[in-house]
Amino acid sequence: MNERLYQLENLTQIYGNRTALDVDRLDIEIRTITGLIGPNGSGKSTLMRILAFLETPATGRVTFQGRPFSKVPLDLRRQVTMLSQEPYLLKRSVQANVSYGLKLRGISDTVHPVNRALLKVGLDPTRFSHRSWRELSGGEAQRVALAARLVLKPKVLLLDEPTASVDRESSELILHAALDARNRWGTTLIIISHQLTWLRQIADRILSMDYGRLTQVH
Ligand SMILES: Nc1ncnc2c1ncn2[C@@H]1O[C@H](COP(=O)(O)OP(=O)(O)OP(=O)(O)O)[C@@H](O)[C@H]1O
Ligand SMILES: [Mg+2]
Repeated sequence: MNERLYQLENLTQIYGNRTALDVDRLDIEIRTITGLIGPNGSGKSTLMRILAFLETPATGRVTFQGRPFSKVPLDLRRQVTMLSQEPYLLKRSVQANVSYGLKLRGISDTVHPVNRALLKVGLDPTRFSHRSWRELSGGEAQRVALAARLVLKPKVLLLDEPTASVDRESSELILHAALDARNRWGTTLIIISHQLTWLRQIADRILSMDYGRLTQVH
């Protein structure tokens, strides 16, 4: 039986006097892949930032693994990792970027896990690990940022338009890396994408957002 990971009820987010998010109910089960589509400004990233604990909702109830939003301890929050729409890299080498999260978690032997993560996103470690962040194309930077998330073997991986600036081959790699994370580590994925065909290949269900409200597509 599936276990509930997130439970959202009557959730709103308000910026100034505008309601960006108004979700009656959303349950997300462990090990599932949820796709999220919707027009620009419909509230997709806002919802994702709340799921990543980066924003606190204005009203409503969120529980994560049965605990209320404000009472989720740091070690549980750290099981959730998000790749944002405009991924941020440290102004350092690829190796430093991908190993950063591991070091933060007290892991010092990072070379092999970093190499494996780079291979998963189609970047040859011998060519890329010592490159500076400056020497990467947009699509390569996106994949380095994804490798930096995959290396953590996260319980929850939130991807905000992971294929926006990558070519078709890299979109396939990202698709396989995401499925691999779910199969190996039981990672739960939520993926925002405008590429519905791509999303249908990977997601168990697709939700659509419009004016901050959710409807299920299939
Ligand atoms: N920090 C913020 N302060 C004020 N308004 C915000 C903030 N973040 C988002 N908004 C507004 O909230 C609404 C939802 O934004 P959000 O970024 O969630 O949309 P989105 O669905 O991710 O859009 P896109 O497809 O363009 O990424 C928009 O009207 C946006 O202008
Ligand atoms: Mg967005």
